Amino acid sequence: MQTFCPHWLCPGLFFSFYLIWILILPLLALPSASDYLHRGWQRLLEEGESCTDCSPEECPTPRGCLAGVVKDTCDCCFECANLEGQICDLDNTNYFYGKCGDNLECQLDMEDLRHGEVPEPQCVCLSSTAVCGSDGKTHSQICKFMEAVNAHPEANLTVIHEGPCESAPQILSPPYDIWNITGQDVIFGCEVFAYPMAFIEWRKDGTDMLLPGDDPHISVQFRGGPQKYEVTGWLQIQEVRTTDEGDYHCFARNTFGETVATASLTVLTPDQLNMTGLLLPKPRHQLFEDDEESEDGDDYY
Ligand SMILES: *[C@@H]1O[C@H](CO)[C@@H](O)[C@H](O)[C@H]1NC(C)=O
Ligand SMILES: *[C@@H]1O[C@H](CO)[C@@H](O)[C@H](O)[C@H]1NC(C)=O
Ligand SMILES: *[C@@H]1O[C@H](CO)[C@@H](O)[C@H](O)[C@H]1NC(C)=O
Repeated sequence: MQTFCPHWLCPGLFFSFYLIWILILPLLALPSASDYLHRGWQRLLEEGESCTDCSPEECPTPRGCLAGVVKDTCDCCFECANLEGQICDLDNTNYFYGKCGDNLECQLDMEDLRHGEVPEPQCVCLSSTAVCGSDGKTHSQICKFMEAVNAHPEANLTVIHEGPCESAPQILSPPYDIWNITGQDVIFGCEVFAYPMAFIEWRKDGTDMLLPGDDPHISVQFRGGPQKYEVTGWLQIQEVRTTDEGDYHCFARNTFGETVATASLTVLTPDQLNMTGLLLPKPRHQLFEDDEESEDGDDYY
Protein backbone atom coordinates (compact mmCIF):
# COMPACT_ATOMS: atom_id res chain seq x y z
CA MET A 1 0.00 0.00 0.00
CA GLN A 2 2.82 2.38 0.75
CA THR A 3 4.75 1.81 -2.51
CA PHE A 4 2.61 4.08 -4.68
CA CYS A 5 2.22 7.55 -3.29
CA PRO A 6 0.98 10.41 -5.54
CA HIS A 7 2.05 13.75 -4.20
CA TRP A 8 -1.45 14.93 -3.35
CA LEU A 9 -1.61 11.98 -0.95
CA CYS A 10 1.81 12.39 0.53
CA PRO A 11 2.34 16.00 1.51
CA GLY A 12 5.66 15.20 3.11
CA LEU A 13 7.10 13.67 -0.04
CA PHE A 14 5.61 16.42 -2.16
CA PHE A 15 7.18 19.01 0.06
CA SER A 16 10.63 17.55 -0.35
CA PHE A 17 10.24 17.47 -4.14
CA TYR A 18 9.05 21.03 -3.94
CA LEU A 19 12.09 21.98 -1.90
CA ILE A 20 14.44 20.35 -4.38
CA TRP A 21 12.85 22.29 -7.22
CA ILE A 22 13.12 25.54 -5.32
CA LEU A 23 16.80 24.89 -4.86
CA ILE A 24 17.60 23.59 -8.32
CA LEU A 25 15.39 25.72 -10.52
CA PRO A 26 17.42 28.91 -10.15
CA LEU A 27 20.43 26.96 -11.39
CA LEU A 28 18.56 25.52 -14.37
CA ALA A 29 16.89 28.81 -15.14
CA LEU A 30 20.18 30.65 -15.54
CA PRO A 31 20.94 31.76 -19.12
CA SER A 32 21.28 28.37 -20.75
CA ALA A 33 22.69 30.17 -23.77
CA SER A 34 25.82 30.84 -21.80
CA ASP A 35 27.94 27.73 -21.83
CA TYR A 36 30.37 29.27 -19.43
CA LEU A 37 27.80 29.67 -16.72
CA HIS A 38 26.43 26.25 -17.41
CA ARG A 39 29.83 24.68 -17.12
CA GLY A 40 30.60 26.87 -14.13
CA TRP A 41 27.60 25.68 -12.19
CA GLN A 42 28.24 22.12 -13.23
CA ARG A 43 31.72 22.43 -11.80
CA LEU A 44 30.38 23.80 -8.54
CA LEU A 45 27.87 20.97 -8.28
CA GLU A 46 30.54 18.38 -8.97
CA GLU A 47 32.76 20.08 -6.47
CA GLY A 48 30.00 19.49 -3.97
CA GLU A 49 30.44 15.78 -4.52
CA SER A 50 34.12 16.32 -3.65
CA CYS A 51 37.07 14.80 -5.41
CA THR A 52 37.76 11.58 -3.60
CA ASP A 53 38.37 8.68 -5.95
CA CYS A 54 39.60 9.26 -9.46
CA SER A 55 38.88 6.47 -11.89
CA PRO A 56 40.32 7.72 -15.18
CA GLU A 57 38.69 4.82 -17.04
CA GLU A 58 35.28 6.26 -16.13
CA CYS A 59 36.09 9.70 -17.53
CA PRO A 60 34.15 10.73 -20.62
CA THR A 61 36.34 11.49 -23.63
CA PRO A 62 36.05 15.17 -24.45
CA ARG A 63 35.46 15.75 -28.17
CA GLY A 64 35.91 18.67 -30.52
CA CYS A 65 38.13 20.60 -28.13
CA LEU A 66 39.54 23.36 -30.36
CA ALA A 67 41.95 24.66 -27.71
CA GLY A 68 43.03 21.20 -26.52
CA VAL A 69 42.22 19.58 -23.18
CA VAL A 70 42.99 20.37 -19.54
CA LYS A 71 42.42 18.43 -16.31
CA ASP A 72 39.14 19.13 -14.50
CA THR A 73 38.79 20.69 -11.04
CA CYS A 74 39.52 17.36 -9.40
CA ASP A 75 42.68 16.92 -11.49
CA CYS A 76 41.15 13.67 -12.73
CA CYS A 77 39.33 13.76 -16.06
CA PHE A 78 40.26 15.75 -19.14
CA GLU A 79 37.86 18.39 -20.39
CA CYS A 80 37.91 20.98 -23.17
CA ALA A 81 40.16 23.98 -22.51
CA ASN A 82 38.82 27.47 -23.15
CA LEU A 83 39.52 29.18 -26.47
CA GLU A 84 41.11 32.52 -27.17
CA GLY A 85 38.66 35.24 -26.20
CA GLN A 86 36.63 33.03 -23.87
CA ILE A 87 36.11 33.99 -20.27
CA CYS A 88 38.32 32.12 -17.76
CA ASP A 89 39.30 31.86 -14.09
CA LEU A 90 41.99 34.40 -13.39
CA ASP A 91 43.79 32.23 -10.84
CA ASN A 92 44.41 29.63 -13.59
CA THR A 93 42.20 27.05 -11.93
CA ASN A 94 39.12 25.74 -13.60
CA TYR A 95 37.02 26.32 -10.58
CA PHE A 96 34.24 28.19 -12.37
CA TYR A 97 34.79 29.44 -15.94
CA GLY A 98 37.59 27.07 -16.81
CA LYS A 99 41.21 26.98 -17.86
CA CYS A 100 42.71 28.34 -21.06
CA GLY A 101 44.33 25.96 -23.55
CA ASP A 102 47.96 25.75 -24.69
CA ASN A 103 49.69 29.01 -25.61
CA LEU A 104 46.87 30.92 -23.92
CA GLU A 105 46.88 32.87 -20.69
CA CYS A 106 43.98 34.16 -18.62
CA GLN A 107 44.28 37.97 -18.50
CA LEU A 108 42.06 40.85 -17.56
CA ASP A 109 40.80 42.72 -20.59
CA MET A 110 42.00 46.25 -19.96
CA GLU A 111 40.01 47.50 -22.96
CA ASP A 112 36.90 46.96 -20.83
CA LEU A 113 38.33 49.17 -18.13
CA ARG A 114 38.95 51.93 -20.66
CA HIS A 115 35.35 51.68 -21.80
CA GLY A 116 34.19 51.99 -18.21
CA GLU A 117 33.12 48.36 -17.95
CA VAL A 118 34.10 45.80 -15.38
CA PRO A 119 37.14 44.04 -16.85
CA GLU A 120 36.50 40.39 -17.64
CA PRO A 121 39.23 37.79 -17.51
CA GLN A 122 39.64 36.12 -20.86
CA CYS A 123 42.05 33.76 -22.61
CA VAL A 124 44.70 35.70 -24.53
CA CYS A 125 47.17 34.19 -26.98
CA LEU A 126 50.76 34.48 -25.79
CA SER A 127 52.03 34.94 -29.34
CA SER A 128 51.09 37.44 -32.00
CA THR A 129 53.37 36.04 -34.69
CA ALA A 130 51.66 34.71 -37.79
CA VAL A 131 52.56 31.18 -38.87
CA CYS A 132 52.48 29.52 -42.27
CA GLY A 133 50.74 26.14 -42.11
CA SER A 134 51.22 23.08 -44.28
CA ASP A 135 47.77 23.91 -45.68
CA GLY A 136 49.49 26.83 -47.43
CA LYS A 137 47.46 29.27 -45.34
CA THR A 138 48.64 32.09 -43.13
CA HIS A 139 47.29 31.73 -39.59
CA SER A 140 47.30 34.95 -37.58
CA GLN A 141 49.07 33.31 -34.62
CA ILE A 142 49.78 29.94 -33.04
CA CYS A 143 46.47 29.82 -31.12
CA LYS A 144 44.43 30.21 -34.31
CA PHE A 145 46.69 27.63 -35.94
CA MET A 146 46.02 25.16 -33.11
CA GLU A 147 42.29 25.71 -33.53
CA ALA A 148 42.65 24.70 -37.17
CA VAL A 149 44.74 21.67 -36.17
CA ASN A 150 42.14 20.52 -33.64
CA ALA A 151 39.23 21.22 -35.97
CA HIS A 152 40.75 18.98 -38.68
CA PRO A 153 42.98 16.40 -36.99
CA GLU A 154 42.90 14.21 -40.11
CA ALA A 155 44.71 16.93 -42.09
CA ASN A 156 47.98 16.43 -40.12
CA LEU A 157 48.54 20.17 -40.18
CA THR A 158 52.04 21.35 -39.28
CA VAL A 159 53.79 24.72 -39.08
CA ILE A 160 56.02 25.23 -42.10
CA HIS A 161 57.62 28.38 -40.76
CA GLU A 162 56.96 31.43 -38.63
CA GLY A 163 55.58 34.46 -40.40
CA PRO A 164 53.00 34.47 -43.15
CA CYS A 165 53.16 32.08 -46.10
CA GLU A 166 54.88 33.65 -49.03
CA SER A 167 52.32 34.10 -51.75
CA ALA A 168 51.34 36.03 -54.82
CA PRO A 169 49.01 38.94 -54.03
CA GLN A 170 45.32 38.31 -53.44
CA ILE A 171 42.90 41.17 -54.00
CA LEU A 172 40.62 41.11 -50.98
CA SER A 173 38.48 44.05 -51.99
CA PRO A 174 38.52 45.00 -55.67
CA PRO A 175 37.58 48.38 -57.12
CA TYR A 176 33.87 48.62 -57.93
CA ASP A 177 32.20 49.97 -61.06
CA ILE A 178 31.25 53.61 -60.61
CA TRP A 179 29.17 56.13 -62.50
CA ASN A 180 28.81 59.81 -61.81
CA ILE A 181 28.08 63.17 -63.37
CA THR A 182 30.76 65.33 -64.96
CA GLY A 183 32.42 67.59 -62.47
CA GLN A 184 32.14 65.16 -59.53
CA ASP A 185 35.10 63.48 -57.83
CA VAL A 186 35.31 59.68 -58.00
CA ILE A 187 37.53 57.23 -56.18
CA PHE A 188 38.46 53.58 -56.76
CA GLY A 189 39.89 51.40 -53.99
CA CYS A 190 41.88 48.16 -54.08
CA GLU A 191 42.73 46.16 -50.94
CA VAL A 192 45.47 43.55 -51.30
CA PHE A 193 46.96 40.83 -49.11
CA ALA A 194 50.45 39.63 -49.98
CA TYR A 195 53.69 38.49 -48.39
CA PRO A 196 56.11 39.95 -49.15
CA MET A 197 54.10 43.15 -49.35
CA ALA A 198 52.63 43.97 -52.75
CA PHE A 199 53.15 47.01 -54.94
CA ILE A 200 49.97 48.45 -56.42
CA GLU A 201 49.77 50.13 -59.80
CA TRP A 202 46.82 51.69 -61.58
CA ARG A 203 46.40 51.76 -65.34
CA LYS A 204 43.62 52.78 -67.68
CA ASP A 205 42.51 50.55 -70.55
CA GLY A 206 44.07 51.46 -73.87
CA THR A 207 47.05 53.27 -72.39
CA ASP A 208 50.33 51.82 -71.23
CA MET A 209 50.88 54.76 -69.01
CA LEU A 210 51.04 54.26 -65.30
CA LEU A 211 48.55 56.48 -63.48
CA PRO A 212 48.55 59.25 -62.38
CA GLY A 213 51.03 60.14 -65.15
CA ASP A 214 51.20 63.88 -65.60
CA ASP A 215 47.44 64.36 -65.34
CA PRO A 216 46.84 66.82 -62.49
CA HIS A 217 43.22 65.77 -61.95
CA ILE A 218 44.24 62.17 -61.20
CA SER A 219 46.02 61.09 -58.03
CA VAL A 220 46.95 57.81 -56.39
CA GLN A 221 47.51 56.91 -52.75
CA PHE A 222 48.74 53.82 -50.92
CA ARG A 223 48.67 52.79 -47.34
CA GLY A 224 49.44 49.67 -45.33
CA GLY A 225 46.37 47.99 -43.88
CA PRO A 226 43.65 47.74 -42.87
CA GLN A 227 44.93 44.34 -41.65
CA LYS A 228 48.44 43.03 -41.19
CA TYR A 229 50.24 42.21 -44.47
CA GLU A 230 47.70 44.21 -46.43
CA VAL A 231 48.11 47.27 -48.54
CA THR A 232 45.32 49.42 -49.95
CA GLY A 233 45.57 51.68 -52.97
CA TRP A 234 43.20 54.41 -54.10
CA LEU A 235 42.82 56.10 -57.44
CA GLN A 236 41.09 59.45 -57.33
CA ILE A 237 39.84 61.38 -60.33
CA GLN A 238 38.77 64.92 -59.57
CA GLU A 239 36.07 66.69 -61.57
CA VAL A 240 35.52 63.79 -63.96
CA ARG A 241 35.07 64.49 -67.67
CA THR A 242 33.52 62.23 -70.27
CA THR A 243 37.05 61.47 -71.55
CA ASP A 244 37.78 59.78 -68.21
CA GLU A 245 35.29 57.01 -69.03
CA GLY A 246 36.75 53.55 -69.37
CA ASP A 247 38.13 50.54 -67.52
CA TYR A 248 40.63 51.02 -64.72
CA HIS A 249 42.92 48.22 -63.55
CA CYS A 250 44.47 47.70 -60.16
CA PHE A 251 47.66 45.61 -60.53
CA ALA A 252 49.12 44.09 -57.38
CA ARG A 253 52.58 42.58 -57.69
CA ASN A 254 55.29 41.01 -55.58
CA THR A 255 58.12 38.55 -56.28
CA PHE A 256 55.65 35.63 -56.37
CA GLY A 257 53.26 36.97 -58.94
CA GLU A 258 50.76 39.52 -60.09
CA THR A 259 46.99 39.89 -59.79
CA VAL A 260 44.68 42.35 -61.42
CA ALA A 261 41.17 43.63 -60.77
CA THR A 262 39.22 45.88 -63.09
CA ALA A 263 36.37 48.34 -62.67
CA SER A 264 34.65 50.68 -65.08
CA LEU A 265 33.92 54.38 -64.83
CA THR A 266 30.86 55.78 -66.57
CA VAL A 267 30.57 59.56 -66.81
CA LEU A 268 27.25 61.21 -67.63
CA THR A 269 26.56 64.81 -68.46
CA PRO A 270 23.64 66.34 -66.53
CA ASP A 271 21.60 66.17 -69.77
CA GLN A 272 22.26 62.49 -70.20
CA LEU A 273 21.32 61.92 -66.59
CA ASN A 274 18.05 63.71 -67.14
CA MET A 275 17.28 61.48 -70.14
CA THR A 276 18.28 58.23 -68.48
CA GLY A 277 16.11 59.19 -65.56
CA LEU A 278 16.61 57.51 -62.26
CA LEU A 279 16.98 54.02 -63.68
CA LEU A 280 20.70 53.92 -63.00
CA PRO A 281 21.93 51.58 -60.30
CA LYS A 282 22.94 52.96 -56.98
CA PRO A 283 26.70 53.12 -56.44
CA ARG A 284 28.06 50.12 -54.66
CA HIS A 285 29.71 50.28 -51.28
CA GLN A 286 33.01 52.16 -51.44
CA LEU A 287 36.21 51.29 -49.70
CA PHE A 288 36.83 53.01 -46.43
CA GLU A 289 38.65 56.29 -46.74
CA ASP A 290 39.73 56.58 -43.16
CA ASP A 291 39.85 53.07 -41.85
CA GLU A 292 38.08 53.07 -38.55
CA GLU A 293 37.96 49.30 -38.79
CA SER A 294 41.69 49.17 -38.24
CA GLU A 295 42.41 48.26 -34.65
CA ASP A 296 46.15 48.42 -34.29
CA GLY A 297 47.27 51.12 -36.66
CA ASP A 298 51.01 50.78 -36.08
CA ASP A 299 51.06 47.06 -36.70
CA TYR A 300 50.99 46.81 -40.45
CA TYR A 301 54.49 46.02 -41.61
C1 LIG B 1 47.75 11.84 -41.67
O1 LIG B 1 48.57 10.88 -41.02
C2 LIG B 1 48.02 9.58 -40.98
C3 LIG B 1 48.94 8.70 -40.14
O2 LIG B 1 50.28 9.12 -40.21
C4 LIG B 1 47.83 9.04 -42.40
O3 LIG B 1 47.25 7.76 -42.38
C5 LIG B 1 46.93 10.00 -43.16
O4 LIG B 1 46.81 9.60 -44.51
C6 LIG B 1 47.49 11.43 -43.11
N1 LIG B 1 46.53 12.32 -43.72
C7 LIG B 1 46.89 13.24 -44.61
C8 LIG B 1 45.80 14.09 -45.15
O5 LIG B 1 48.04 13.40 -44.97
C1 LIG C 1 29.13 61.24 -57.36
O1 LIG C 1 30.22 61.85 -56.68
C2 LIG C 1 29.89 62.52 -55.50
C3 LIG C 1 31.14 63.20 -54.97
O2 LIG C 1 32.24 62.37 -55.03
C4 LIG C 1 29.30 61.52 -54.51
O3 LIG C 1 28.94 62.17 -53.32
C5 LIG C 1 28.09 60.86 -55.14
O4 LIG C 1 27.60 59.86 -54.28
C6 LIG C 1 28.45 60.22 -56.47
N1 LIG C 1 27.24 59.72 -57.10
C7 LIG C 1 27.15 58.45 -57.55
C8 LIG C 1 25.89 58.10 -58.22
O5 LIG C 1 28.05 57.66 -57.40
C1 LIG D 1 15.67 67.89 -66.74
O1 LIG D 1 14.44 67.81 -67.42
C2 LIG D 1 13.46 68.68 -66.92
C3 LIG D 1 12.18 68.51 -67.75
O2 LIG D 1 12.13 67.24 -68.33
C4 LIG D 1 13.96 70.14 -67.05
O3 LIG D 1 12.97 71.02 -66.50
C5 LIG D 1 15.26 70.30 -66.30
O4 LIG D 1 15.76 71.60 -66.48
C6 LIG D 1 16.26 69.28 -66.81
N1 LIG D 1 17.47 69.38 -66.04
C7 LIG D 1 18.68 69.46 -66.56
C8 LIG D 1 19.83 69.52 -65.60
O5 LIG D 1 18.87 69.45 -67.74
